[in-house]
Amino acid sequence: MGVRGVIFDWIETELHPMECTSDGFIYDDMDSQSGRALPIIYRPFDLGERSHWRDRGAVWDYLLAGRCERGRVLHFGPGDGWPSLVVAPFVSEVAGVDASRRRVEVCTQNAARLGMHNAKFVHVPPGSPLPFGDDSFDAVLAASSVEQTPDPRSTLREIHRVLKPGGRLRITYESLTPYRGDGEHGIWLWEAGRRSCRLILFDRDIDGEQVVQYSLDFAISDQELAGRFRKAPSELTFADLSVERLEGLRDAIVGARVLTTTHPSGRTLAHWLLDAGFVEVLPSHDGAACAAALYDLLPSARRPRSLVELDEYLRPVVAAVVQMKAPTDIDPMITALK
Ligand SMILES: C[S@@+](CC[C@H](N)C(=O)[O-])C[C@H]1O[C@@H](n2cnc3c(N)ncnc32)[C@H](O)[C@@H]1O
Repeated sequence: MGVRGVIFDWIETELHPMECTSDGFIYDDMDSQSGRALPIIYRPFDLGERSHWRDRGAVWDYLLAGRCERGRVLHFGPGDGWPSLVVAPFVSEVAGVDASRRRVEVCTQNAARLGMHNAKFVHVPPGSPLPFGDDSFDAVLAASSVEQTPDPRSTLREIHRVLKPGGRLRITYESLTPYRGDGEHGIWLWEAGRRSCRLILFDRDIDGEQVVQYSLDFAISDQELAGRFRKAPSELTFADLSVERLEGLRDAIVGARVLTTTHPSGRTLAHWLLDAGFVEVLPSHDGAACAAALYDLLPSARRPRSLVELDEYLRPVVAAVVQMKAPTDIDPMITALK
């Protein structure tokens, strides 16, 4: 066993981490899952910000690839309400389902603050059926959420069940391809409070498309934890860790959890969608990347001057881009047709 395996083995045998689903692992503990950075939901839309163009391109992608304008839409795993709260003005009704009670509360508060009365959010315990009848929705949107569920294949079958015949799922997902090379192991140090922090260690099986995450809760701040390694919190890496170091921190560890998730590549997901009953699967280029590329190409004097103008500008281009087939080995966004 390598040094890295020894660290995970130490956590298992010394700390007996509690097995969790993703709600108990992280999402129930976050005030904002996006760091309050989302345009429109948390910040005014800024036409001078490339990331805001990207976000708007993603919204048009969901609306156009999902063909959900004026329709009844299900949003699976909304987090802080993205994209449901931004697509809400364009659809008749959007229902968001999330396994984390905290996320449902946050989405509900965000909807009220933004005056989005046609957006409702419901808690659904992980692994349980969706609380809707067969053939209920015109479209389903899923952004980085299906891979967070205990069994993504049964989640896809449920999504298929609640879609109307002819309805579309538009989905993004976090595949492990970008971690190939030196990203098999990693850490994330999260400032959980003034005197507490959480260290998350990632053990990625890239070929097996699985991630095991260990979360260690410390009763010291992230500054103090990193300081024990003579580093700033942002400088700490997996390579700094060893069993000896963790043993030295043992007295400050007040909890340990473990989460296992499955992360399909584009190719695997395309197979799973067909197995779930979808009749057609279209991996395509995406509106977010397209909007970002347009931002780069346009001289600032020629950029749209209002959000309405930007929408008029993006809409036809994104409509074309989401029809353009992309190879599954780049893990593209996917439209699946029931
Ligand atoms: C990475 S976040 C994505 C949030 C949002 N869609 C976005 O892109 O900003 C994943 C979301 O999926 C939710 N989730 C995880 N497991 C779920 C399940 N079994 N059912 C519904 N939602 C789930 C999480 O609670 C979280 O809100």
